[in-house]
Amino acid sequence: MTPNRRDFLQMAAAMGAALAWAGPARATRTDWRERRDLYPEGVASGDPAADSLILWTRRPYDSGERARLTVEIATDQAFRRVVATSPATVSAASDWTCRVLVGGLRPGRVYWYRFVDAEGHGSRIGRTITAPAEDDARPVKFAFVSCQNINEGFQHAYRRMIHEDERAQRAEQLGFVLHLGDFIYEVVQYPEEMATRYDRRIVEIVRLAESIKVGNFHLPLDLAGYRAIYRAYLRDPDIQDARARWPFVAMWDNHEFSWQGRQSLLKAGRLERPAQTIKVAANQAWFEYQPARISKPSGPGLDRFDPPAVADAPLTDFDDNGLSQEPNNLAAIGSLTAYRALRYGAHLDLIVTDQHSYRMQHPLTLPEAEGLGSAPDALSGFIPEEVLEILDAGRAYNGGNPPDTISFAGTDTPNYRKTSAPFTILGARQKGWFLDRLRRSRATWKIWGNSLGALDWRADPQNLPEGFTERWPGAGYTNAATDYGGAYHELGEIYDLVRDAGITGFAIVSGDRHSFWAGYAAKSLPPKTFEPVGLSFVTGSISSPGQVEAFEHSFPREHALRPLYMADRPGSEKPHPTVNMLMLHGVRSCLEYARSGDLEAARAISNPALAPHLEFVDMGGHGYSTVRLSATELSTEFVCIPRPSAAEPRPDGGPLRYRVAHRASLWRAGERPRLEQRVIEGDPGLAI
Ligand SMILES: [Fe+2]
Repeated sequence: MTPNRRDFLQMAAAMGAALAWAGPARATRTDWRERRDLYPEGVASGDPAADSLILWTRRPYDSGERARLTVEIATDQAFRRVVATSPATVSAASDWTCRVLVGGLRPGRVYWYRFVDAEGHGSRIGRTITAPAEDDARPVKFAFVSCQNINEGFQHAYRRMIHEDERAQRAEQLGFVLHLGDFIYEVVQYPEEMATRYDRRIVEIVRLAESIKVGNFHLPLDLAGYRAIYRAYLRDPDIQDARARWPFVAMWDNHEFSWQGRQSLLKAGRLERPAQTIKVAANQAWFEYQPARISKPSGPGLDRFDPPAVADAPLTDFDDNGLSQEPNNLAAIGSLTAYRALRYGAHLDLIVTDQHSYRMQHPLTLPEAEGLGSAPDALSGFIPEEVLEILDAGRAYNGGNPPDTISFAGTDTPNYRKTSAPFTILGARQKGWFLDRLRRSRATWKIWGNSLGALDWRADPQNLPEGFTERWPGAGYTNAATDYGGAYHELGEIYDLVRDAGITGFAIVSGDRHSFWAGYAAKSLPPKTFEPVGLSFVTGSISSPGQVEAFEHSFPREHALRPLYMADRPGSEKPHPTVNMLMLHGVRSCLEYARSGDLEAARAISNPALAPHLEFVDMGGHGYSTVRLSATELSTEFVCIPRPSAAEPRPDGGPLRYRVAHRASLWRAGERPRLEQRVIEGDPGLAI
């Protein structure tokens, strides 16, 4: 069904967007003269459909409440063929941002757009692309990214992406950028308080008026603070150029609201407080700065968020799935619903979920977890897989027969999760929507855009040699993941649906881990059955420091387990990241590599039961990833740049460390997917 103009009006109203409708082309009638200084955050577009997308800009005024702009969209960069011209209102109430939904566009087309004010002062020109039609069987390509931190890094991964895309043939160019969150970091550092962190020099970005300080982090407490942070990020030239070149499909991760928070709870280190007003502020700023097809309950306000009035009240009255029914909590998280799905040509259904607004408290952070046994000091970072499985599944463990006690390291603790529902990240309502959407998907590839990595983060401390350190007091493997990599039950539900409904072409793309991972979506690992039902990828950060960099600065030199994380090799400036090998091959390989530096010898003693789900792990990689989808094949590329701790002067975004491709043929229902890996350039070292 092709939506008509009236459907569009209703859609625009529901989304809080002004509407433009494309018609016959004619030359521009505006008197546009570019004044980038008057549009300091540039332009952007978002959520491409086959016939519509959203355009965005910000034009601040020193006084007044509202001003009127005109937006033009054309099929050429010179605006000789303008297909839509529409008024667009900016207002102080929306921090002078505006969103315009443009309808009536042609599928799979490049368009150019620009804003102009009453005086003829114009924004920069943006480029955007509509989605291909649902029956368009040509291959599609997009990028997925996450975790950009302008406070402690540089964003030239985007410049590299632009450079490559400008030189690609039209059919191989990116259609959009999926941003999986940590678009901003709400934890702001001031250079005079902290000159450096790891390899990074702290860059002055913003001063927050209303804030609270935790360690050296300043956290915003109001709307003005979140808005100021978005403005600072969008003034970064690389981020701004990327938004002006491609439509973005954005979903927040944790830092768009609160580092360790969930629902409307703010948490950062020791600080934990109900923060309904702050969640609403974070949602409002996101709505204002990320053009997206969201829904909000405040009704058909065309240009503004209209925040609900909420009070900060303790989160109480948790339902079975851990969602606080406290009315202010429900109002705050309900003020913006961002999970959504996009159809993109014949081959892509992109389903994007929210991992923070509805999640249950993680069982390992409950006070009862204090009673759990613990490994001896040297092994203290490890949690036995069998303990995590009991805590995760709650009353559903072992087919509904959970144990009364949890045993670890000679300590028996009452199973405090025995009667509780399984751990959920999506929450009941979103999960119902997600499963339904997945079941109904008809595109060749069903891609789950999930901000959190979903691959087990596993090691085999049971294989440490006798006398190397104290004996591992668990039954076998350990899994350190408190993200989706240890959410066994919820992933199991999703993967079972994929298997039982005969869904093929299922793949996950994610971020957050500040590392590149490629592997398989499987609900269990050896010694249990390993039956992958899909593919799973994690992209490295655009710029945020990863674990390898943190370890280089903080892992004690004399620690017994150092060889499992880093190998200090003579003649090399930085230690080699054996932590990648720990995940891929196990402890014995790490010890061999640390001893001999012989990669082949180390891989030769790989533990084959440890990680059949993994093909690639680089905990020190930065950059971006791409996905290409056709009727028969999915392929991804990890485009890894050197650590972005200094500005990159080269206009091409600088050199690459490596480019690694993974491809899989479309499998039939009941078959298992298989990845093929190819190092296209550079050397990924210990990541394979
Ligand atoms: Fe991050």
